Amino acid sequence: MQPAYEYRDGSLFCEKVALSEIASKVGTPCYVYSAASILEKFRTYREAFGDTPHRICYAVKANFNLSVLALLARAGAGFDIVSGGELYRVLRAGGDPASVVFSGVGKTAEEIDYALEAGIHSFNCESEAELALVDALAARRGQTARVAVRVNPDVDPATHPYIATGLKEHKFGIDMSEAEGVYERAAALAHIRLEGLSCHIGSQLLDTDPLVEAVDRMLELALRLRARGVALAHIDFGGGLGIPYRPGERAPDVRAFIALLREKVTGTGLEVIIEPGRSIVGEAGVLLTRVLYRKRTGRKEFVIVDASMSDLIRPALYQSHHEIIPVRRLPSLGTVVADVVGPVCETGDFLARDREIANVMPGDLLAVCSAGAYGFVLASNYNARPRPAEVLVEGERWRVVRDRESYEDLIRGEV
Ligand code: LLP
Repeated sequence: MQPAYEYRDGSLFCEKVALSEIASKVGTPCYVYSAASILEKFRTYREAFGDTPHRICYAVKANFNLSVLALLARAGAGFDIVSGGELYRVLRAGGDPASVVFSGVGKTAEEIDYALEAGIHSFNCESEAELALVDALAARRGQTARVAVRVNPDVDPATHPYIATGLKEHKFGIDMSEAEGVYERAAALAHIRLEGLSCHIGSQLLDTDPLVEAVDRMLELALRLRARGVALAHIDFGGGLGIPYRPGERAPDVRAFIALLREKVTGTGLEVIIEPGRSIVGEAGVLLTRVLYRKRTGRKEFVIVDASMSDLIRPALYQSHHEIIPVRRLPSLGTVVADVVGPVCETGDFLARDREIANVMPGDLLAVCSAGAYGFVLASNYNARPRPAEVLVEGERWRVVRDRESYEDLIRGEV
């Protein structure tokens, strides 16, 4: 079971709140997040760094709800953003722009200018053309932008191909073998200060060996760059630590990984930046859904629920596994092997396939587990479905932190 979630007298709770209460007041589908769980994960990272100079820049893309961002901002997090929209959210949530790093392979001039105006910490630049654009825009403002170059360490992160990013054939970063030349040429740009080196090799990594390999390659490169006179001040290893989705799956130990990082950077004087997303919010969330129908066609059993790929696309897009458990546990009901599917008109619209789950009936509530990361943020209005509500639980209190969309919301801005 995810931390902060447990059964009490057969009823599933998030912290001190019964999920059935939230579902009956807010309706379904609905995302629920545990504030305690988010803060606990963040603290684990922070404590593991101890006195090593560091910056934990939470990857906003994993869950961009304003209240989640505000919670992390108050706890002292920095932020990793990949768009002007994410920067806007961070600022609206009270995040400190001086702790924001801007990643992404396709930043527009408007986005770069907005980030310069806000005074972010640094840009993780992914091409020479981008370095030149940041320089030109900073010059126009009479500013000097702090910049890291994102390199591609060419290691195989052993994860789903759609979320692996650190191989030579990927669109991300600059080839490691070209890095020294890039720093050399960029030194001529007067309005950027080349003070960082960054990478991100992929997401949902269950084994840290590829990460450690990337760290080693990065540190070797950092030393070579320094030897050539580059005044490196920080090194950014990206995000990527995975979480357990399947029963028995073991996720990497954050403390052990950070301890190893600290050991490796000792004596370099480099500030360490990391950009964790999923490992902070993933296990804090569930998606609540209600069973609409039971149905049998051919040899298949279906549990049809009111959540779909428009609410949680991960199973359809990455064949991801999310545990699905009943909100009211009645052992006498037994189990059934079924496909859990939503109302969207696509065969790919499933939350689970051939899964042994509780033998639930129409009206029963289910919790789709570990849905706090890349859940709501990837939700769409496909089939003109309003996006679900989001709820934040803090102890025995809970509140809606995003209203369920209305039909009116669905047509906003249209003529
Ligand atoms: N930094 C950069 C530059 C990234 O591209 C990412 C994720 C992160 C940090 C955060 O990685 P994390 O710690 O969350 O693994 N939608 C996919 C995941 C896409 C990840 C994209 N980049 C999924 O649902 O699995």
